[in-house]
Amino acid sequence: MATERTLSIIKPDATARNITGKIVDKLESAGLRVVAQKRVKWSQADAEAFYAVHKERPFFNDLVAFMTSGPIVLQVLEGEDAVAKNREVMGATNPADAAEGTIRKAFAENIERNSVHGSDSSENAEKEIAMCFKADEIVG
Ligand code: PPS
Repeated sequence: MATERTLSIIKPDATARNITGKIVDKLESAGLRVVAQKRVKWSQADAEAFYAVHKERPFFNDLVAFMTSGPIVLQVLEGEDAVAKNREVMGATNPADAAEGTIRKAFAENIERNSVHGSDSSENAEKEIAMCFKADEIVG
C-alpha cells in the first residue's frame, strides 16, 4: 500500500448544519490526515470548472447551483490508499445506498445534498488538488 493524497470537499449542506467537525472526525478516525484545509465559497465559474467532466450530465446545473449555494471546506487528505479509503468512509453517492458507519449514511440528506466529495482516482486526485490548492498550502 502506498501513501497518497486525495481531495475531499465538505459540501454546503454540511456547512449549513455546522457538522464539519463531525465529518472530519470520521475521516481522521479512518486513518486519514488533513494536510490542507480551507473554507471558501465557490463562484459559478469555480464550480463549472471543477465539475467540467460532468457537464453533459442531466444534473450538472443543479450540482453547480448547489455547490455555489454556501460555504464549502476544501481539504487534502493523506494516508495509505487515501483515494479508496476516503471513498469507503464517504459511502455511496446516494445515501439510500450508503453502508452503515459511512459519512453519507450518517449525514447526507439526498443524492444532491450528500455532504462530501472525494476524488475517484489517483489521477483525478492530483488534478483536483492542483485546482484547489497551491503547493505551499499543503503541509504534510
Ligand atoms: S461519483 O461519486 O462521481 O461516482 O457519482 P456520480 O453519480 O458520477 O455523480 C457525480 C457527482 O454528481 C453528483 N450527483 C448529483 N447532483 C445533483 N443531482 C443529482 N441527481 C446527482 N447525481 C449525482 C454526485 O453527488 C457527485 O458529486 P461529487 O461532488 O463528485 O461527489
